[in-house]
Amino acid sequence: MGDNVILVGFMGAGKSSVGRLLARRLGRCFVETDDMITAQEGRSIPQIFAQRGEAHFRALEDEAMRLLALKSGDVIATGGGLPCRDGRPQALRALGTVVWLRGDFDVVYERAQRAGARPMLAGRGRDEIEALYRAREPYYRQADVTIDTTGVNPDQVVSTLLLALHDRLSLSPLGRGQGEGAR
Ligand code: S3P
Repeated sequence: MGDNVILVGFMGAGKSSVGRLLARRLGRCFVETDDMITAQEGRSIPQIFAQRGEAHFRALEDEAMRLLALKSGDVIATGGGLPCRDGRPQALRALGTVVWLRGDFDVVYERAQRAGARPMLAGRGRDEIEALYRAREPYYRQADVTIDTTGVNPDQVVSTLLLALHDRLSLSPLGRGQGEGAR
């Protein structure tokens, strides 16, 4: 198994803010699959959806997934839909410890609407988004670790997460894997 930490969860779950903080606390690099895709394509996620459609975006996620195999020791935030294909949860777990940032639907829905341009929300009503959330839950649920983010701020999520990850990552007091300091 790889030694990355991979954050999964619905839009608005807090993957970016928690991931950035977690990476800082662990002294690791932070990578977002959406950033890999926008850097590679030279356009934003809304532009990719508008100009090439969702199917093209999902193909770019497949490519990002292949590139993730080259990562080690990173904190990786995935786009909300990336883990939700058959075989994906297993493929992600092969890259490291997968963490589901779970939140009550109403809370993540409200957060997702507030921040960022999200093409998956455009033109869809609340019920449709809730159906998407429910359809995705079985994929997220296959994570190694689940952290409930409802009513908790990113700092608190990171503290809980560090405790949960402690044994898995064999953390030294400095946060890096044991043995690395001996090199
Ligand atoms: C998507 C979530 C987005 C981004 C794209 C599609 C989805 O990422 O990958 O707009 O299908 O849920 P966030 O989860 O960071 O919003």
